[in-house]
Amino acid sequence: MTGIIVNYKINIFESPEKTSAEFADHLVSDCINIIAESGIVNIALSGGNTPKMLFDILSEDYSEKLDWSKVHLFWVDERCVPPDDSESNFGMTKEHLLNSINIPDTNVHRIYGEDDPEREVVRYSEELKNNIKLISGIPVFDLMLLGMGDDGHTASIFPNIIELWDSANICEVAVHPVSGQKRITITGKVINNSKKIVFLVTGKSKSEILSKIIKKEEGYLNYPSSLVNPVTGELHFYLDKNAAINL
Ligand code: 6PG
Repeated sequence: MTGIIVNYKINIFESPEKTSAEFADHLVSDCINIIAESGIVNIALSGGNTPKMLFDILSEDYSEKLDWSKVHLFWVDERCVPPDDSESNFGMTKEHLLNSINIPDTNVHRIYGEDDPEREVVRYSEELKNNIKLISGIPVFDLMLLGMGDDGHTASIFPNIIELWDSANICEVAVHPVSGQKRITITGKVINNSKKIVFLVTGKSKSEILSKIIKKEEGYLNYPSSLVNPVTGELHFYLDKNAAINL
């Protein structure tokens, strides 16, 4: 396995609301700076529940403060369901963010969860390669938002399929260990090629594994989240006090 968390910055806030608000501010400042330098910003979003609050804050407070036409959105993973399914990461993002901002459809690079997963992996890999700057053939995201599952997974790389982290491919088909739901996920080499990664983690249910990973306690390398270490970039944790309770 490559990429064990080495250099990082931890930010802890009183509540999930405050954590999301501070991160929203940080994210928008980064976007403005990157757009000023490069003209556009490429962001990879994660799904699940945690980003909903962040997206709501971006919708309410930043729809006019950022030139969303210069923002390109991608996803680190998607559940293999149609976009209007309640499980869809794209669907969640549409409801909480995309419906409220002025972003051209061509800037929204969703994963087609409704398509055949094996074919979609190939298509999305090409979508990434054709739209994002590559270094050694691997896309370089300007910013990546990651979440962490209660079992220490990130993107859709779960502990029982941790070998997907080191896949030679850019994207893979993954299977949720409990529900059996198929997912499409980017792999470790794309994650760690990002210029900046932010883990947004809230809630006590994440605290034990999070502290094991950060303190490098026995067995921590079994958790895919422990392998996040952007090779030339920055790693930030945005945590609420419950997630950080054991740190
Ligand atoms: C997904 C993800 C996943 C998520 C974590 C945390 O599609 O589920 O992108 O990696 O970030 O599972 O999810 P919660 O925020 O729901 O706890």
